[in-house]
Amino acid sequence: MVKISIVGTGYVGLVTGACFAEVGHQVVCVDNDQKKVAFLQGGGIPIYEPGLEELVKRNVTAGRLRFTDQIADGVAHAEVVFIAVPTPPKSDGSVDMTYVERVAREIAGAMTEYKIVVDKSTVPVKTGERVAQTIKRYNKNKCEVDVVSNPEFLREGCAVADLMQPDRVVIGVGGDRPVAKLKAIYEPFHAPIIVTDINSAELIKHACNSFLALKISYANALSVICEASGANIADVVHGMGLDKRIGRAFLNAGLGYGGSCFPKDISAFIHITQELGYDFRLLREVESINRDQAERFLKKIHDTLWIVKDKTLGVLGLAFKPNTDDMRLAPSLNIIRPLLKEGAKIKAFDPQAMEKAKEFLPDIEYCQDAYEAARNVDGLIICTEWDEFRTLDLEKLKNVMGHPTIFDGRNLYDPKLMNDLGFTYLSIGRRLSPAGQSG
Ligand code: UDX
Ligand code: UDX
Repeated sequence: MVKISIVGTGYVGLVTGACFAEVGHQVVCVDNDQKKVAFLQGGGIPIYEPGLEELVKRNVTAGRLRFTDQIADGVAHAEVVFIAVPTPPKSDGSVDMTYVERVAREIAGAMTEYKIVVDKSTVPVKTGERVAQTIKRYNKNKCEVDVVSNPEFLREGCAVADLMQPDRVVIGVGGDRPVAKLKAIYEPFHAPIIVTDINSAELIKHACNSFLALKISYANALSVICEASGANIADVVHGMGLDKRIGRAFLNAGLGYGGSCFPKDISAFIHITQELGYDFRLLREVESINRDQAERFLKKIHDTLWIVKDKTLGVLGLAFKPNTDDMRLAPSLNIIRPLLKEGAKIKAFDPQAMEKAKEFLPDIEYCQDAYEAARNVDGLIICTEWDEFRTLDLEKLKNVMGHPTIFDGRNLYDPKLMNDLGFTYLSIGRRLSPAGQSG
């Protein structure tokens, strides 16, 4: 058992803390949002993440997990203090390190004995050195400290599973001293542990995220070629994915990637490598293909509906991906906002994200189910591939719609079936439907 504190109780910090407690460690989660801490202490869960609620409740009851808004409390408790606060993008694409720097100072100020400080937040390569310098500078009791990089590889919507069965654990250290303690933390997860230097650990995280985004943009580029050539992207990526060297995952063509990680991590990586003297043109193209994907989808809507002003459009799915309520940089925003600007009326349904969506999209109508969002609309737009949308009663859906026209941004349905049912059905990168529209 290791005594651990985690500063930053968000999608990353709360999941990490609950999983650490689940395997037997003693965890204190710290957050400077007092309302959030009070909500957690009252048994509330501020984010939707499958499996998280019961995990938190079980470990709070077992006395292995508690919450505080006092960093000093967390530092006093812990042998190992994790930093999991946001590293958002600045307007020029570089990383805003204010939160990490501030928390490093606060931790240093509270230290009275040797601590291991672990950076879990996604940070630019060479940040570890900066955190170590900051802690040394503000460590008024001059205690010894080791700074470690331990990047997270959690996907929202399956973060608990991703941490309980990690593909690997990456630990970046400046010396041997903290290795045993970090290995003790991760030993119960029975995953390969890579121990490397801090820069390599930080770079592994950026390299992974940008490669995954590259796969997505590659599939999206292929989807355009499929539409132009009458091929079917689903068959193309299936044929590619069976090659073990390529792998099928992250080749789903659609509206493109969003979320709190890929967009900011790609722009950060481009910025960081620029500063290191390398022009990462490949990643700039990944970004540009991603932007084009939304533009192309909007063009399909315009080509089909002609004028959208005063038309009513239904939207299924708002969250940036299924099984999460997170709306940060959700692809749905790149579709809905331009349509609102043109004077369309939007009604939407999302199984989890509607509460959070209201901050981003205050001027749309929120419906209580998919059929309500489709009622009397001139067109229905699918932005997020929630499983429940795959099993909708399509006859019923067609009957409630004003016009049976569907723009499927996530290729949920079979084009032939949709045409047989009498829908005008447009999707991404699939063979032409008999009606002549690109699939
Ligand atoms: C964020 C980044 O998005 C991710 O790239 C990084 O790896 C970890 O931090 P996430 O958990 O999604 O991940 O952020 P968020 O859900 O916004 O949670 C951050 C939490 O930190 C918030 O609850 C916020 O109140 C808290 N916080 C922020 C602090 O406790 N102290 C601070 O100084 C700043
Ligand atoms: C990502 C990484 O997967 C994870 O390892 C890292 O720790 C954090 O960033 P996350 O952003 O939570 O996780 O979700 P992910 O499942 O990667 O999806 C990101 C975006 O890509 C979503 O908008 C999703 O819709 C999109 N996507 C994903 C595609 O468009 N096609 C795909 O094949 C896969």
